[in-house]
Amino acid sequence: MEKYIIKGGNRLHGEVTISGAKNAAVAILPAALLSDEPCIIENVPNISDIDITIKILLSLGAEVKMLDKSTLRIDPRRIRTPVVEYDLAKNMRASYYFLGALLGKVGRARVSMPGGCDLGARPVDQHLKGFNSLGAECAVDHGMIHVQADRLVGAHIYFDVVTVGATINVMMAAVKADGLTVIENAAKEPHIVDLANFLNSMGADIMGAGTDVIKIRGVKALHGAHYSIIPDQIEAGTFMVAAAATGGDILVRNVIPKHLESITVKLQKIGAYVEEFDDSIRVTGGGPLVKANVKTMPHPGFPTDMQPQITTLLTLAEGTSIVTESIFDNRFKYVDELRRMGADISVDGRVAVVEGVGRLMGAPVKATDLRAGAALVIAGLAASGITEIEEIHHIERGYEDMEKKLRALGADMKKISIPESVLAQAL
Ligand code: UD1
Repeated sequence: MEKYIIKGGNRLHGEVTISGAKNAAVAILPAALLSDEPCIIENVPNISDIDITIKILLSLGAEVKMLDKSTLRIDPRRIRTPVVEYDLAKNMRASYYFLGALLGKVGRARVSMPGGCDLGARPVDQHLKGFNSLGAECAVDHGMIHVQADRLVGAHIYFDVVTVGATINVMMAAVKADGLTVIENAAKEPHIVDLANFLNSMGADIMGAGTDVIKIRGVKALHGAHYSIIPDQIEAGTFMVAAAATGGDILVRNVIPKHLESITVKLQKIGAYVEEFDDSIRVTGGGPLVKANVKTMPHPGFPTDMQPQITTLLTLAEGTSIVTESIFDNRFKYVDELRRMGADISVDGRVAVVEGVGRLMGAPVKATDLRAGAALVIAGLAASGITEIEEIHHIERGYEDMEKKLRALGADMKKISIPESVLAQAL
């Protein structure tokens, strides 16, 4: 078992470089299967969700070579099976992107129901509705999702909810369908635009990504491409909040400031000073922090993946803040852990009322999911005393070298491994 041990209280200062976007990479790597030639993908983050994505690609028969720490070459010419088994899919939500990619590539796929962060119900009805509209038969049995089509035909699809996953999945299948597909009420997140740019660089014909109507004219074949993934909006936002929470001063490099606007505006309201440059952003804390209300919304609204981090910051602010989670049913599980550190937060369904307490105290806590884990790291950095965070494998799913990056900013933080044999003795 591995843990983070954080001695809080240091003001973070210096520069940090943001890695490639997890949520773009977990879509772009499967999308490379759609090509008839190898693709080279740069700025791939070194995180465990990518390790799993690579294992899935290899299990399907693709060749994957690491050209350097963040560059991959994917050769999809020898795909031998369209099946993604439970052992691989169970760890990661985005394993369902292999449905759209394989459906577009070979006309069928069988993927185990995906795992990922437990944020309440996460149905896949809109994915299946989209595939169905394109002419695919879809079924779920024994924990496997099956999709199959002799021929995919472009269609008009209106999503009942704004969904990132279904927008991406249907986009991947539709690039190889006959004729025009129109997706209405599409999600607009930066990684949707990034995936569309990648597919277009392989010869796809996608227009409107980043708006709520995406038009895809199917093509017969896609060729190889050399592509660089966008920087991670949520990793950047996490370091921005860490600067504000510790009264620090951090230059966050390799970002697209436009993607960070909703976070920037909220941090300014809470009392941090934020300065934007072309591809970096500087956040300076240290002044008084004041209450703010936050409601998560699809892009360009405030991202649900930043909700736990901003809630943690609000525990340090003066006054009562209201945080409303409008995307997921159950995304406040980490609140119990923050309470152990002295936070005063009450939760009623999708609304949390945060009474600012000014200061948190270090405590042993447990990461309940990826972003919850990031929030606890921020809490530990800002708290007095020692915080020990368990279950950090959740954090490592989505943050490259988190503790190294934080240490370089002055955090007193280390990762320790407790051998299984020692744990067994302790029981
Ligand atoms: C993606 C992101 C995740 C982020 C979320 C919202 C990836 C790999 N993950 O997750 O980090 O928190 O977007 O920005 O990119 N829904 C349905 N039916 C469906 C699909 C979704 O009802 O078929 C609902 C979900 O339950 C949820 C809402 O739609 O309430 C949004 O989900 P969605 O945007 O699909 O999230 P994910 O793609 O799972």
